[in-house]
Amino acid sequence: MGKRRILSGIQPTGALHLGNYLGAIRNWVRLQEEYDSFLFMADLHAITVPHDPTRLAEDTQNVAATYIACGIDPDKATIFVQSHLSAHSELAWLFNCITPLNWLERMIQFKEKAVKQGENVSIGLFAYPVLQAADILLYEPDLVPVGEDQKQHIELTRDIATRLNFQYGSEDAPVLKVPEPLIQAAGARVMSLTDGTKKMSKSDPSELSRIDLLDSPELIQKKIKRCKTDPVRGLAFGDPDRPECNNLLTLYMLLSGQTQEAVATTCADMGWGQFKPLLTETMVEALRPIRDTFGELTADRTYLESVLKQGRDKAAAIANPTLAKVKAALGYSPLP
Ligand code: TRP
Repeated sequence: MGKRRILSGIQPTGALHLGNYLGAIRNWVRLQEEYDSFLFMADLHAITVPHDPTRLAEDTQNVAATYIACGIDPDKATIFVQSHLSAHSELAWLFNCITPLNWLERMIQFKEKAVKQGENVSIGLFAYPVLQAADILLYEPDLVPVGEDQKQHIELTRDIATRLNFQYGSEDAPVLKVPEPLIQAAGARVMSLTDGTKKMSKSDPSELSRIDLLDSPELIQKKIKRCKTDPVRGLAFGDPDRPECNNLLTLYMLLSGQTQEAVATTCADMGWGQFKPLLTETMVEALRPIRDTFGELTADRTYLESVLKQGRDKAAAIANPTLAKVKAALGYSPLP
């Protein structure tokens, strides 16, 4: 039996931040040892809100470079760009036609994003989870590692697969494999530096709310210096009234590779004035190799391009037969 398979992706909308790394990519680095891993840049999802066409291609390649700089090994994992495979768009259309409208009307992320877009809500933003279902089901993964916020989209994906199997397959020959979500462990949910109750996010208007993986040491220092804390002396995990304290200690724990107990002991009697330089130093050193490798990978893009070509070909070898299977089940027949 071959390895079990995972699939996941990130939208290439601007630089990736610490939340993307600690909450997603770092786990993929571990999972690639055990699973046949398909990791992609969701550049079709990136245009569901207004985007800058002069940035799209480079941002997409930069995310690939970031994956590799963080430790994803192109010889172990398949790294590819969603738009390089037309199967994603094509399967999404077929799914659009079997997905009830009211399944999408329930999507929490759509409601949140739609509010932010005001008048400018596209059909694409509404249909976004259907494209995500296509991304996933094309590769017949066993597990889909995602953050808590994507759980509803994975549920929808399972519902679409089950419905298609029910309507167009037979019980002993399902058309699509129904995958399981792999929700990342608690503690890996990185919160905003300016509000410990909100997730660290690319779309937060304040730059000070997040640490981008490519931030310079000086910028990291500035952001930590300015980040929100509280007036309590002594630092401890687990107090629900101290969200910032929890978040900063967790960051220190994850970036220094220590256990929670060790960090709790070290920091028990510290004030913020003592802790912040320690966190800054640890973060700068943890991110330094990522920043350096990213610089090398983007100085000459021929290597990156070869990785993405290889990724596209390996992805196509899995995705195209799945698409053909779905089309056949729906009654399409290719010309001989
Ligand atoms: N919607 C995901 C996010 O915003 C990105 C994504 C698109 C994705 N397609 C996917 C994640 C398929 C996992 C599997 O984080």
